Amino acid sequence: MSSKSSEVSGFYKLSPAERLKVVKEISGISDEDAALIGSGAGLKLDAADHMIENVIGIMPVSLGVAVNFLINGRDYLVPMAIEEPSVVAAASNAARMARPGGGFRTSNTGPVMIGQIQAIGVVDPFGAKMRILEAAGEILGKANEQDPILVKVGGGAKALDVKVLDSIIGPMVVTELQVDCRDAMGANAVNTMSEAVAPIIERVTGGRVILRIISNLATKRLVRSRAVFKKDVLGGEEIVDGVVNAYALAAADPYRCATHNKGVMNGVSAVALATGQDTRALEAGAHAYAAYTGRYLPLTVWEKNAEGDLVGTIEMPIAVGLIGGATAVHPVAKACTRILGVKSAIEMAEVIASVGLAQNLAALRALSSEGIQRGHMKLHARNVAISAGASGDLVEKVAAQMVEERRVRFDRAKELVEELKNKA
Ligand code: MEV
Repeated sequence: MSSKSSEVSGFYKLSPAERLKVVKEISGISDEDAALIGSGAGLKLDAADHMIENVIGIMPVSLGVAVNFLINGRDYLVPMAIEEPSVVAAASNAARMARPGGGFRTSNTGPVMIGQIQAIGVVDPFGAKMRILEAAGEILGKANEQDPILVKVGGGAKALDVKVLDSIIGPMVVTELQVDCRDAMGANAVNTMSEAVAPIIERVTGGRVILRIISNLATKRLVRSRAVFKKDVLGGEEIVDGVVNAYALAAADPYRCATHNKGVMNGVSAVALATGQDTRALEAGAHAYAAYTGRYLPLTVWEKNAEGDLVGTIEMPIAVGLIGGATAVHPVAKACTRILGVKSAIEMAEVIASVGLAQNLAALRALSSEGIQRGHMKLHARNVAISAGASGDLVEKVAAQMVEERRVRFDRAKELVEELKNKA
């Protein structure tokens, strides 16, 4: 969060160093954070070697900042790490278009994750279910003994559910711990708790516990965001209708819906990666939630209101944390989290959901009008130019020429690099 506006016109025209200066001024990050980000070498090999196994190097990815986000009346600069062109520009553009309608408004269900404990070989599964529920106090107590710090800050195992499932190996009894994870993503806490209560479940059910693990289908950690996009800002009522029509196809057909939701995740995963979150957990949760009703559906909804303006909403699970994991150790992730300026994991999740909604609007608006290829090709052309050996000013020149000729190809880029180099 920033007390200064995130509305920065012409941000894209600046150099990376100039942009970083603007971000530093608005977000108030330290000189050290800015230097770390600007160096492009924020993660040392030694630290990387401790994060995963068999490390041989570091895989850098471009880090951009989306501007213009106004969420619950506050301005945010949003760091996004992604290899795909257009995404950061699209998010900034959509966020700008949301501002006249008041920006984004959010809500949430709280940061509760579910841990599953699977018991098999239970002779009387329904009787066992009742016995687990009767022992809820003991089970929750045992779970909470595992993480006194989480309990101290108001989190911990708060409730449990039990379901008897029919399966190909017979009935199984699945206990679901509901753990309020506060500002942690929670996988460690929930998995530790699930393992710790397993002996109680075995004693009470008379069965054998096999799996003890968090569920990424985080239906108790939902966030929501909504925004009104004024028809005049979007470019007229036809655009509003176009977006609604595009959404209608996603709601009717899983082949379109997968791509619709992929566009949402372009925004969600890019912010998640920049801030050191578990992007796979988010992807798994998002798509499972999209199919929660038994049909795979869009994560967003688009409608036209009485004024003819476009109303967009999103609801999805977003399990992110401010403590633990890469968020706490990756220096660039920590600096990015400071740029975002959020005070809690829930606030971060709400910003991420808003970026997902913005991303989806930008894609649907382009797709239902001129298509995405023109804008996309402009940016793609730069990558092609660089891969063909262009550097400095030559990148823009080669890219512009290829776009004008509608020949964004490696062989053409090579020719142009040679031609323009010789001219210079
Ligand atoms: C490309 O990465 C994302 C889009 O395909 C999303 C969409 O089709 O809605 C543009």
